[in-house]
Formats: sequence, C-alpha cells, structure tokens
Amino acid sequence: MEAKTPEQSKATMTDMVLPSETNPLNNLFGGELLARMDRAACISARRHSRRVVVTASVNHVAFNRAVPLGSVVTVEAKVSRAFKTSMEVFIDVWMEDRESGAKTKANEAIYTFVAVDNTGRPVMVPELSPETDLEKERFDAALRRKQLSLLLAGKMKPNDATELRALFD
Ligand SMILES: CC(C)(COP(=O)(O)OP(=O)(O)OC[C@H]1O[C@@H](n2cnc3c(N)ncnc32)[C@H](O)[C@@H]1OP(=O)(O)O)[C@@H](O)C(=O)NCCC(=O)NCCS
Repeated sequence: MEAKTPEQSKATMTDMVLPSETNPLNNLFGGELLARMDRAACISARRHSRRVVVTASVNHVAFNRAVPLGSVVTVEAKVSRAFKTSMEVFIDVWMEDRESGAKTKANEAIYTFVAVDNTGRPVMVPELSPETDLEKERFDAALRRKQLSLLLAGKMKPNDATELRALFD
C-alpha cells in the first residue's frame, strides 16, 4: 500500500451552534462537540484507509474555550499517524468571529480509529508520511499516546510501553 500524507485525509466540517445543542449557560454542549469531532475524524480515517472504520478510543479532549450559541464552528481532522490497523486522528476546533472572520482555536482532541472488514476484523492501513513541522511533531508523539491508551485500557503491560517509559528514564 502506498503511503499517504495527512493532507490527503483532511476532513473539514463547518456548522453553527443552535439552541438545541447548548448547555444551560448557552454554550455548545460537550457531548455535541464530541459527536461532531467523531464524525469529522471518522471521515478522515476513512479517507486515509478507504475502509470501514470504528472509533477505538478517545485519547484526549481539551475543552479549552466555551463555544457560545450562534457561533460558526469549524472542525478539522487529519490522520496524524497510521500504525498497522489503527490510525490516530488529530482534531482541531476553530470558532469564527462574525465581524472579522478571524478564526480562534477553541478545542482539540485526539481519537483512535481502527479499519475493519465487513465482519469487523481489523485490516491493514497505508502508512502516513507527515510533511509539515506540526504534522511531524504529532507523528513523533503518537506512539507514546498509543502506548498510554493501551496501558489505560489494560491492553498493554507497563514493561512493554517502552516509548512511554523513555519519557521518565
Ligand atoms: C476497535 C476494535 C476493532 C479493536 O479490536 P481488537 O480485537 O482489540 O483488535 P486488536 O487487538 O487487533 O487491535 C487493533 C488495533 O487497535 C488498536 N487498539 C485497540 N484498542 C485500542 C485503544 N484502547 N487505544 C488505542 N489503540 C487501540 C491496537 O493497538 C491495534 O492497533 P495496530 O493494529 O495498529 O497495532 C474492537 O475493539 C471494536 O470493534 N470495538 C468497538 C468499536 C465501536 O463500536 N466503536 C464505536 C464506539 S461506540
């Protein structure tokens, strides 16, 4: 399989925040944002693998800024690293100022997807070739995050998390 770039997997979704999607403070409800990010990330992982993909884990979510009712929100997802059958997808969330059109980073998240066949069995995905400095930075740190996620899920022994342990040695 030929390697692909993060740009080839880019998925961008822009939508408004409507009253039914807010919390009592009139800001975007966290679960609604999680769903939007999951959708964009799923499309991105599908574009990379050209397979059916399932969400395996949500590794990190930072709700750094509240997103008020009526905001125009852009969710941008790109595969940040591909392993054998799994893909890490980085999601950046932006708010758009109504008057100036300037975009401010509101949130970010990291999801892991696994490509599967029609019976739900994991299948191999193409490698990822990062191009920009940011893509390379995210690529380099992804193995550490994968090990942490597997460790927390009880799917890896601490002794096998070599990349993670190197942080503390
Ligand atoms: C995700 C799923 C396919 C993994 O199946 P599995 O039997 O654990 O398969 P494997 O152990 O071979 O793991 C497959 C890949 O997923 C990765 N993986 C599994 N669990 C993971 C986790 N918690 N975090 C990060 N990666 C994970 C493995 O490391 C492996 O990656 P690699 O092949 O690139 O090295 C399976 O658990 C599943 O179908 N889950 C339900 C998915 C779903 O319904 N999602 C919607 C959310 S409701």
